[in-house]
Amino acid sequence: MDTRITRKHTKTVRSLLLIAVIVMALFASCYYDNEEALYPSYSQTCDTSSVTYSGTIVSIISGNCLSCHSNANAALYGNNIRLEDYADVVARATAIEGSIKHTGSYSPMPKNGAKLKDCSIKQFDIWVRNGMPNNK
Ligand code: HEC
Repeated sequence: MDTRITRKHTKTVRSLLLIAVIVMALFASCYYDNEEALYPSYSQTCDTSSVTYSGTIVSIISGNCLSCHSNANAALYGNNIRLEDYADVVARATAIEGSIKHTGSYSPMPKNGAKLKDCSIKQFDIWVRNGMPNNK
């Protein structure tokens, strides 16, 4: 048996296996991309059934808005718009919705920041639709 031919053959088989592994890796990463597009993370984790003022809305606003719209900072950074107290949030609800959805003629918020997560916008909507309860 000619060992040179066998070695050559072995090399070809190795190369083919390597190519196969690379192709499989590429397909695997494509599959992950598609999965993320099909199932955005909020659809798995967004709580839309127990939205409350203290439990949901306060954390959205304090995490994204109070750096400019707290009672203390509003004059300096937030155009005197206060969003720290329940009554202020209720009074501004329509403008807040326009601002966080980037719709209408409202100034897009958070100012100079990334748009809020879809989940947060959805939760704010739900709270408004529920009649803006001051609940826990
Ligand atoms: C970096 C500071 C900053 C942050 C953070 C910020 N805002 Fe503002 N906001 C402003 C300023 C300044 C204005 C005045 C209008 C303008 O300059 O665009 C404003 C205006 C507004 C208005 C009035 C918009 C209008 O057109 O009537 C609303 C409502 C509002 N902000 C809500 C929010 C909400 C809700 C958040 C968080 C999701 C937020 N803002 C985050 C600075 C900020």
